[in-house]
Amino acid sequence: MVKIVRKQVLNPSVTLLEVEAPRIAKKAQAGQFIILRLDEKGERIPLTIGDYDREKGTITIMFQKVGLTTQLLGDLNEGDTIQDFVGPLGQPTRPELGENIKRVCVVGGGVGCAIAYPQAKSLHAEGIEVDVIAGFRSKDIVILEEEFKAASDHFYLTTDDGTYGEKGFVTDKLKALIEAGNQYDAVIAIGPVPMMKFVSKTTEPYGIKTLVSLNPIMIDGTGMCGCCRVTVGGKMKFACVDGPDFDGHQVDFDELMNRNSVYREREAQEKERHAC
Ligand code: FES
Repeated sequence: MVKIVRKQVLNPSVTLLEVEAPRIAKKAQAGQFIILRLDEKGERIPLTIGDYDREKGTITIMFQKVGLTTQLLGDLNEGDTIQDFVGPLGQPTRPELGENIKRVCVVGGGVGCAIAYPQAKSLHAEGIEVDVIAGFRSKDIVILEEEFKAASDHFYLTTDDGTYGEKGFVTDKLKALIEAGNQYDAVIAIGPVPMMKFVSKTTEPYGIKTLVSLNPIMIDGTGMCGCCRVTVGGKMKFACVDGPDFDGHQVDFDELMNRNSVYREREAQEKERHAC
């Protein structure tokens, strides 16, 4: 059982919780995730570790209220507890990038920016030149702007509707930066699956290594159930133990989108039932 020590509402649908989890905080690295369960009958959901404080022994998670569990999680307050909180799970991102990395572009989309942020922060702290492109649908859902500015050398913000930053998609900005001669050793893309797919398509002609953080349905998070299987380079991989980061040029994104939509109807029914 872990205790919530800080709650911050980042925008109407995205919430930040900092919880006491010293053993996880001791080992956590950017790119890894936890699996939590609110109570004995609750579903298990994976959430990427947004930040960690080894001294305080805390882990920060940021999530969008999309399903019943995230809705209930968002209703919790400081002092409340979460029944199960397991991690760190998955592989850290840094080794995937390899040595001799000098400049990286981190691309975040929507709530994916909550996961992109620790990536930018840890690479920047390592002395790597970091460009960040953060994209949102509109101004009212922008999150972590100041944090990204502090964790990057160049920060670009886009909104689909042009209400803040540059009007357009993150892929437009990324292409423009590459075409302008900015040379990236790698691009890290984190956000909705279609966005990661199109970032990968953008970088492929330029041969820029591109890592994406996949978010398939997960249950055990330890490679036992097979729920999180994804196809990468024609081979089956388990996102929970082999990932969650994979080569974006090799991922079968369409299969992932299909698999992620399997329980959509059931999820809507559960939300409705809970509201009654
Ligand atoms: Fe069960 Fe990955 S979540 S194998």
